[in-house]
Amino acid sequence: MEHHHRGEWGSNLGFLLATVGAAVGLGNIWAFPYKMGANGGFPFLIIYLVLAILVGFTIMLCELAIGRRGGGSVLTSYHKVGGKLGSFLGILALVSPFLILSFYTVLGAYCIQYVGLNFAELLGVFSLSSVSGADSFGSMLTNQPLAIGTTFLFIAICFLIIRGGIKDGIEKFNKVGMPALFIMLLIVIIRSLTLPGAAEGLKFMFAPNFEPIQTDFIGVLSAAGGQMFFSLSLAMGITVTYGSYLSKKESLVRNSLVIIISDTLVAIMAGMAVLPAAFALGGGESAKLDGPKLLFITLQDVFNAMGPFGPIFGILFFLFVTLAAITSAIALIEVLVTFVIDRRTASGKAPSRNMVVAAVCLVIFAEAALVAADGLASNGLWIPFQETGRNLGGSWLDFMDFISEGIAMPLGALIMSVLIGWIIGPKVIRDEVSLEGHRMSDSLYLFFVICVRFIAPIAMAFILYGQVSSFMAIPS
Ligand code: PHE
Repeated sequence: MEHHHRGEWGSNLGFLLATVGAAVGLGNIWAFPYKMGANGGFPFLIIYLVLAILVGFTIMLCELAIGRRGGGSVLTSYHKVGGKLGSFLGILALVSPFLILSFYTVLGAYCIQYVGLNFAELLGVFSLSSVSGADSFGSMLTNQPLAIGTTFLFIAICFLIIRGGIKDGIEKFNKVGMPALFIMLLIVIIRSLTLPGAAEGLKFMFAPNFEPIQTDFIGVLSAAGGQMFFSLSLAMGITVTYGSYLSKKESLVRNSLVIIISDTLVAIMAGMAVLPAAFALGGGESAKLDGPKLLFITLQDVFNAMGPFGPIFGILFFLFVTLAAITSAIALIEVLVTFVIDRRTASGKAPSRNMVVAAVCLVIFAEAALVAADGLASNGLWIPFQETGRNLGGSWLDFMDFISEGIAMPLGALIMSVLIGWIIGPKVIRDEVSLEGHRMSDSLYLFFVICVRFIAPIAMAFILYGQVSSFMAIPS
């Protein structure tokens, strides 16, 4: 069968580790904890979970089912299931990972640099504690050769993993990488929670605060929706591609739930690792608790303030973040690699996986070098829409992020829910879910139909609107 030529995951656990690895990334570590704290704490978590079940689960189940049914690359699978509209979706789901990779790899490269810096500090080659996190990050952004070089290194690591294939490359790496990631996270949590003053960080994240929900409910919903969507790596082709290598024996419903729960759990745990430390030793200034600043400035200051063991925790922490970035980046690259391989196979050629992975990685390096050279707009490069002063022209990273996360991803998920809910009908998903003795009960099916027809499209339209308007905003 065609399926077997392409290879398959060695086990369901391997598939799960790889897919959770794809979902757990920088978003879990640098965005979720702060968003949860700033938007109401515990009640935000409840809203997040409700959205994850109503919308995240629905879209993830569709993607897994479409991938497994289509048995091909994201373009082939969407086309098989959805005809012309499906092909359009497939193209969107190829554009997004391509653009996201332009900056995800650069952020991965900064993480590698931080591992190196803390290592140099440990060996006594360099005195990190004498410079502030802001200064070390600043010089990282302006050192273009180093940024481009480490971006190359990050992509080269991904290359080495992916060329081994689904089972012997990606699955094997995640089987070791994900447990390692988890253990490092646990160690950092213990260190962070035992710092004096750590409770403030926990309070910030968890203490219920209904004010944001009362004053700006729509804002809270949109923050939770956008985060859920990005964090689960939806509408990226990843779940379709990984699903296309999944055996018909496995349960799609259970797998979707496990992925969603694990991703949320890691996001909460990441919050317990970063926020207590940021409050105890980093002052807990709210302007510095989100995004690249949290990782590369605030937390580095925390490690600097920890004394002799600081660099060890610095190394552990940044290795953890680098691993999280690698497991997401290889998923994004595999979407493109599977696409090229399937396409060549269909036209009767026998492509060499090594060559395809090398070519895809080189093209990604070319666009990533631009983002690395830009250094978050530190180096005077021309940037599209720069003169408008809006977020989308803030840096090359923002621009790439705008097209992918701002437009292509939510638009893709919106079209997909309409396609499945209204055009071809949700039954196709039920058929794929109910193979080999798995059953989708009538009540679960009814729940799915309501979500895919009404709730998911409305939520996605809303998230699309929220994303575009936040990129269109002029930062104050
Ligand atoms: N889900 C990843 C995160 O939370 C981000 C990501 C999105 C990775 C899309 C790959 C694709 O950071």
